[in-house]
Amino acid sequence: MKITIVGTGYVGLVTGATFSEIGHNVMCVDNDESKVKKLKRLEMPIYEEGLEDMVKRNVKAGRLSFSTSIKEGTEFATVIFIAVGTPPGYKGEANMSYVERVGREVAENMKSYRLLVEKSTVIVNTNQQLKRTMNKYLEDDIPFDVASNPEFLREGTAIKDAFHPDRIVVGVESPQGAKLLREIYEPIVTSSKCEYLEMNIASAELTKHAANSFLAMKISFINAVSRICEMTGADIKQVAHGIGLDERIGKSFLYAGVGYGGSCFPKDVDAFIRMGDEVGYSLNILKEVQKININQREHMMRKLQHELWVLEDKVIAVLGLAFKPGTDDVREAPSLYFIPQLLERKAKLKLWDPIAREKFDQIHPGLSYFKTPLECCKDADAVLILTEWPEVRNLDLKKLKDVLKVPIVIDGRNVFEPVEMEKRGFIYKCVGREPGKPIDKK
Ligand code: UDX
Repeated sequence: MKITIVGTGYVGLVTGATFSEIGHNVMCVDNDESKVKKLKRLEMPIYEEGLEDMVKRNVKAGRLSFSTSIKEGTEFATVIFIAVGTPPGYKGEANMSYVERVGREVAENMKSYRLLVEKSTVIVNTNQQLKRTMNKYLEDDIPFDVASNPEFLREGTAIKDAFHPDRIVVGVESPQGAKLLREIYEPIVTSSKCEYLEMNIASAELTKHAANSFLAMKISFINAVSRICEMTGADIKQVAHGIGLDERIGKSFLYAGVGYGGSCFPKDVDAFIRMGDEVGYSLNILKEVQKININQREHMMRKLQHELWVLEDKVIAVLGLAFKPGTDDVREAPSLYFIPQLLERKAKLKLWDPIAREKFDQIHPGLSYFKTPLECCKDADAVLILTEWPEVRNLDLKKLKDVLKVPIVIDGRNVFEPVEMEKRGFIYKCVGREPGKPIDKK
């Protein structure tokens, strides 16, 4: 089937590549000319494992093309996915102006039936506004449908997630729209045997915000418990394992650390809170989730400060800038909280990240980067771990101790075992794991 995808960010590009891989004919549209030029030269605007090969393969096979024109995209296919950004607006609510613009331009250019599918994370009942917009700009009485198909891809494992989703959620209200979407997803549903859920559009829209907020809540919950662990000598890893084996709770998303980041959780939790306020229900539970997340970063900063006392002129090696391993994305990453603070306190920074350096440098230019974690840690007064990259997990601890000036490791991702680290002579501070330590009431 012919499909147009508007927006070539993470979601749009991965979805476009995936659809072409399963045999559809896809046109990806973006109004950023330089991005489209790059894509036509087969250069990827983002790092995602397996994406480049898949894009190259499908462009060569003639199933994937790029354009800057929504007009062209509207003429190309009956089904048009909207995968443009919904960044935080004036008060933290999701800014829907890009979504609106796509609706308007499709309406102005369509000559026969079109199905417009919301793929971007949108506020519940965006479909109503989209329909109104379409009706305003349609010249004739051309039929159209709007549907919702929220995306649950995780950065770093997006390709795997696309082919093996836990479920596919589709919000539809017409048999024709439902049929088209079923046809598009049929190969993935058949091969992965995942659940294909059809529901009304508002439910599909809400499912996305509810899912991301719930996951963020799980992380903040375990982070809150980690604080109690630190005060009582309990070990958060053991507690998380103990509760996670209960199937009703589940093992995933119970890793305590320096808080969640990325392009989705912070933005979606915020937008969900605003949405609740707007409809007259205060999602206080999520306000607390946000507070805990910020507090977790502040808490780690206090640990670093406590160990170093004075930060001025201290050499600090920061391992990991991306918001999680497997991506070069630094949006809302913990590094964006710590590094400005450390610079303000006049610490001397040495940075390492295997792929996020370029993106980080665009935000904080002129900092010192190193090729390997060990080079980064050489002669440092302390190490600060912010991303659990495999290169950090596999660090040779003997060599690490040898290269450091002072063997202080502040670990925001619980990469190492506290007992072993202490045995090796490190001063090791991590999250919710201080077995045998006296109660610290601070
Ligand atoms: C998330 C959702 O998982 C995905 O379904 C949605 O489509 C987009 O948002 P992503 O932002 O790629 O995906 O990352 P994810 O793997 O969910 O991690 C988000 C953040 O939470 C990261 O900063 C990660 O380090 C943190 N995290 C995750 C924890 O701190 N603890 C955990 O147990 C899990």
